[in-house]
Amino acid sequence: MHDAMKKYCFLIICLFAATFVEAQHTYKYGPVGNNKSLFISNLMKKMTVEEKVGQLNLVLSGGDPDGNAKEQAGVIRDSKGGAVFNVAGAALARKYQKIAVEGTRLGIPLLFGFDCIHGMKTEFPIPLGEAASWDLKTIEKSTRIAACEASALGVNWVYSPMLDICRDARWGRIAEGAGEDPYLGAQVAKARVIGFQGKSLKDNNTVAVCIKHYIAYGAAEAGRDYNTTDMSERTLREIYLPPFKAAVEAGAETVMSSFNAYNGVASAANPFLLRKILKGELGLKGFVVSDYDAVRELIDHGLAKDSVEAARIAIEGGLDMDMVSNIFRDKLLPLVKRKVVSEKLIDDAVRRILSVKYDLGLFNDPYLYCDENREKTELMSPDKLQAARESAQRSIVLLKNSQQILPLSKSNKTIAVIGEVANSKSDMNGCWCCYSSGNNPVSILDGIKAAAPNSQILYEKGCKVDATAPEDYSAALDIANKSDVIIMTMGEYAWMSGEAQSRSDIGIPGNQLDLFKKLEALGKPIIVLLTNGRPLAIPYLAEHATAIVETWFLGTEAGNAIADVLFGDYNPSGKLPVSFPYSVGQLPLYYNQLPTGRPHSENLSDPFRSMYKDVSNDALYPFGFGLSYTTFQYSNLRVTNPKMKANDKLEVKVDVKNTGNRVGEEVVQLYIRDLYASVSQPMKSLKKFEKLSILPGQTKTVTFYLSREDLKFYKESVGWITEPGKFYIFVGGNSRDLLKTEFDLL
Ligand code: NOJ
Repeated sequence: MHDAMKKYCFLIICLFAATFVEAQHTYKYGPVGNNKSLFISNLMKKMTVEEKVGQLNLVLSGGDPDGNAKEQAGVIRDSKGGAVFNVAGAALARKYQKIAVEGTRLGIPLLFGFDCIHGMKTEFPIPLGEAASWDLKTIEKSTRIAACEASALGVNWVYSPMLDICRDARWGRIAEGAGEDPYLGAQVAKARVIGFQGKSLKDNNTVAVCIKHYIAYGAAEAGRDYNTTDMSERTLREIYLPPFKAAVEAGAETVMSSFNAYNGVASAANPFLLRKILKGELGLKGFVVSDYDAVRELIDHGLAKDSVEAARIAIEGGLDMDMVSNIFRDKLLPLVKRKVVSEKLIDDAVRRILSVKYDLGLFNDPYLYCDENREKTELMSPDKLQAARESAQRSIVLLKNSQQILPLSKSNKTIAVIGEVANSKSDMNGCWCCYSSGNNPVSILDGIKAAAPNSQILYEKGCKVDATAPEDYSAALDIANKSDVIIMTMGEYAWMSGEAQSRSDIGIPGNQLDLFKKLEALGKPIIVLLTNGRPLAIPYLAEHATAIVETWFLGTEAGNAIADVLFGDYNPSGKLPVSFPYSVGQLPLYYNQLPTGRPHSENLSDPFRSMYKDVSNDALYPFGFGLSYTTFQYSNLRVTNPKMKANDKLEVKVDVKNTGNRVGEEVVQLYIRDLYASVSQPMKSLKKFEKLSILPGQTKTVTFYLSREDLKFYKESVGWITEPGKFYIFVGGNSRDLLKTEFDLL
């Protein structure tokens, strides 16, 4: 071919390729451009009201649109779905996306929603456990990894993080959140939103979050799941709202309303919660989806007489998308046509949904998250497993270590490992692991064996976790007799916490305590490894076990991380994100209690006090508590200028010395108390913390800054205010053992 001709052909090919690439990128809309609002307005002008209502429907699927999910495929083809729930797999997501993009008039891409609570394939510690790390970098990293894996599987929208504050361990869903404290909860919330949503949502390894469950779900009365919540607006705003506020400020794209009713009105149709606070005050730009079937449940709540009324009160209340009840899909359109429901409400909801799709980059490339190659290479890669191990190590809390029994030596010992969960892989994943099948977690037994190859490790189940009929312990007693030390797992199966797992008794289930007592009679040291998704009431163990290690459910690398702590390769640094009670009768229990007119007194001759006759007011293990293999000494707490003017920054310093002989990490916690105000203030409120590593013998000075924002409280019908007066500052390694100083707010 002539040279000029060759050049000509090359040019044609380039032009053709460029047009093709451009066509892919500009998709059906021409160039999408940077003006989101203009783009969405133009798109909405083309939409029929039927197509708009279709966007408000979350379709339940999971199956193959060419096979068992033909019906769902039809719904999408009819433009009656804006998002699909439970599809995970790049190829499967691509199939669905193709139907929406090529099979509908406007080709609006779908969202793919999935529950990704503490990892996708690589599981990290359950969220309550990971909150015990008080390590925001670690939490952000694990969430980033979850986003990478989820997005590699076609998921672009995760029903996570769960931000419910909980003060009542009877509620099984306490496992899914960050515990009892609004400040810690808010910091964790922010870290998780940043982790999931990354630097730009348009990157193919980021996903939109759906923060849940908005709101006060963790306060379900009597700890019974789905139960009603009745609380003051002050408590709502001061205790339950902060994690949601922090998450929205960090850019959270979407919110899931909770199942429960707040002061008599279910969250899915509550204009005060959704319209006034969430969309108004917090300024949520994205949309609110109901929880599963919750629009239909408005009938059961006694708020709507039928599904038509349920649709109306939900959309009026501020809900934008209906999760799987199909009530928006089937009932909204006639309501709009009859002008019972204003089309403006529909428009607002659609605009919010399209805004999230735009932010995710789906209008540029609807197949951004459907990359089969990423799915093949990204899941459970070695770096992710290493991160899971590190997160798990940092989440472990050492509750007791008498006679310095821990860490154990790796050699020359016979160790009896006893307990059903010790030999369970699947339990290590914890509750809410929806895509973990086949991820082969490291069991506690395997972790111990791998860490101590020169020790003789004997294993017996001993008893089942939850059996109450008499069991034969002889094999367990036999190996215990042959051993120098006993390691016993005690607590719950993974499934015993999570949704619909409320318990009225939070003691150690089944025969486990009975077996413990038989083992105790042998007189050998017993190290208890707690496996649990909630605080358990363990007064007997607290007194009689030689050591207690809180291991929650730590995910794929659980066994290795636990062994790292048992044998001293990692010095434990976790602190409880929730109070552990002596007894279920103390619940709800939380450290940041309000004072009473009859405070608890040690003087037993004065019975008219706010206290129990049979148990302490305090926690068995307080919020923020956790030991290390080294010790820390706090001293010299000082406030640089103890007269604070309204806009000052108060500088607080404290010296923390590592007084042991190992490197250790400590979580230095700062609490305040506002002594007198027009509304009683909590006896302590966490305001700052810092986790830092200190060498043996080294002293580090930690500096905190408090601003007026940190001192505000909510006064009903007034708002967020401070009042001048005296404040205490407490600093220490847990919420009970603290140094104290004070300052005046002028
Ligand atoms: C119900 C749960 O309350 C919620 O957390 C979850 O995201 C949805 N089901 C979807 O699985």
